[in-house]
Amino acid sequence: MQPNKIKIKNYQLNSNLMLAPMAGITDTVLRSIVRSMDKDCLLVTEMLSSEALVNNPNAKILESNENESPLAFQLSGHKPHIMAKAAKIIENKADFIDINMGCPVKKVVCGGDGSALMKTPQLASDIVKAIKDHVNKPVTVKFRLGWTLDTKNFVEFGKLMEESGADAITLHARTRSQMYADKADWAEISKLVNEVKIPIYANGDITNIKNAIECLNLSKANGLAIGRGALGNPFLFKQLEHYFNTGEILPEQSLKEKIETLKEHLNCEIAHRGEENGIKFFRKFYPYYIKGIRGGGAYRGKLVTEDNYNNIINLLDEIIENEQKILHIHSAN
Ligand SMILES: Cc1cc2nc3c(=O)[nH]c(=O)nc-3n(C[C@H](O)[C@H](O)[C@H](O)COP(=O)(O)O)c2cc1C
Repeated sequence: MQPNKIKIKNYQLNSNLMLAPMAGITDTVLRSIVRSMDKDCLLVTEMLSSEALVNNPNAKILESNENESPLAFQLSGHKPHIMAKAAKIIENKADFIDINMGCPVKKVVCGGDGSALMKTPQLASDIVKAIKDHVNKPVTVKFRLGWTLDTKNFVEFGKLMEESGADAITLHARTRSQMYADKADWAEISKLVNEVKIPIYANGDITNIKNAIECLNLSKANGLAIGRGALGNPFLFKQLEHYFNTGEILPEQSLKEKIETLKEHLNCEIAHRGEENGIKFFRKFYPYYIKGIRGGGAYRGKLVTEDNYNNIINLLDEIIENEQKILHIHSAN
């Protein structure tokens, strides 16, 4: 099964996959790790506040490297002229400008940003138009099914975004009131797919090849945006690309390979943020990388409190050694 590769406006991508934006997660380091697994997928930055960006156009969060292309920069905000100004600042770094219309977090929606824009569709439309008028890059939008289950408006909203000039959509198949609860309703996405011509990336709960295929079948979407499924398992992108291109399923990574990826991720965060900050920042990732291993809880507890780099590496090596000893005992029996 090989879905047609996605074209966003005049930009022909060689992939159907997107790394979904995640604040505090999809920094230049994680994006580069995913890029090393998948040379073609669309990467998206964390959400960047348009107001903050206009006030500080050289913020560290804007860092990216050229290997990341195709890369979308995601903006949040609700003032069309500020969003347009912010888009202009990042125009030369970005292949696409993505607009956040899906973030459910209270402090974001209270200001009228994120998924609050689904309650002010005219304003959302004005934002798309303002950005399109100011920059010469394809503009994409990311939103949810609606504000609540009773007020789902994603079909009308998506049609309006297309009419306003949006060149692609990422649809997270939950409402704002669901936050991250319940299961993403992939079949709902097909209703919008039937109504618009621009490509749609289905999003929510895609974590392996089996459910990626199920999501494509149910949603009829052109592509898949993967967020949490990439945490601790950026290899999923390689597996999926390989499957779409050949029909073969690559075996899961061994624990040793996973830990090697973890170490690379950690080392690059340290290079990016300095040793102390890099080690602290990285703590959120350990549980994902070592999920499911024997004695994982105890190691997790040690890793997330350890400040010393060499001790961290020793703990990681111990995890690999223990696993190899257990495998050896099993194979001897
Ligand atoms: C920690 C975290 C941060 C997120 N930050 C953003 C963000 O900055 N912009 C955005 O559009 N969505 C953000 N999301 C939502 C994801 O892009 C995605 O829509 C959601 O997690 C569902 O997809 P998944 O099940 O593949 O993770 C975030 C999600 C998480 C878990």
